[in-house]
Amino acid sequence: MIKGFLFDLDGVIVDTAKYHFLAWKRLADELSIPFSENDNERLKGVSRMRSLDIILELGNLNLSSEVKEKLAAKKNSWYVDYITKMTPDEILPGALEFIQDAKDKNIKIGLGSASKNAMTILERLNITGYFDAIISGNEVSNAKPDPEVFLKGAEALGLEPEECVVFEDAAAGVEAAINGKMKCVGIGTKKVLGQADIVVEGLKVICTNDVLNALGIDFKYK
Ligand code: BG6
Ligand code: MG
Repeated sequence: MIKGFLFDLDGVIVDTAKYHFLAWKRLADELSIPFSENDNERLKGVSRMRSLDIILELGNLNLSSEVKEKLAAKKNSWYVDYITKMTPDEILPGALEFIQDAKDKNIKIGLGSASKNAMTILERLNITGYFDAIISGNEVSNAKPDPEVFLKGAEALGLEPEECVVFEDAAAGVEAAINGKMKCVGIGTKKVLGQADIVVEGLKVICTNDVLNALGIDFKYK
């Protein structure tokens, strides 16, 4: 029985990858490290510090943790400048309709995001009230593919992991769902998210019943 849906934020509900890219690119330029949009793909779903490590690896740079903390804070301040200007029209097509359809069917809604800025983004988009539980990068110590963020999400919803379906756009997030023994809907391409139970191009092309049917779950809602 499925009783909860757990959503990743960046790339599932909103496209923040472009803002992460602009902020990381500015930092990479300052450090004279070549960094392309293609490289940016590797940062999806990955924590802030791991993202910085990937960029420093691209430039063969070895820095102390003190310097790294400062660089990550600098990138974050630029990123925050972008996201504090976001508006609700940046919500990805179909995301809110999909969540509302699930809520209408008494499915609990949780957020499981690696981002420490998740609350700021939800508030800017004016959608905080849709969520029964919110777990962000501030509440977890182990980044995806560790299942911690989704396990805490399930717990906050008062559900067992097996009762939840995860929606993820990053390979690390799909792995996290699998590691947490949860079903997973990949948002993106099969090439990247092949391990997910089903993969769709976006929330706009599905509804709750499609997901449960595709997962072979017999679901009777009130
Ligand atoms: C994830 C993004 O949701 O959050 C990653 O996909 C990002 O690209 C991570 O690095 C951490 O975000 P933040 O906002 O805490 O720097
Ligand atoms: Mg994501």
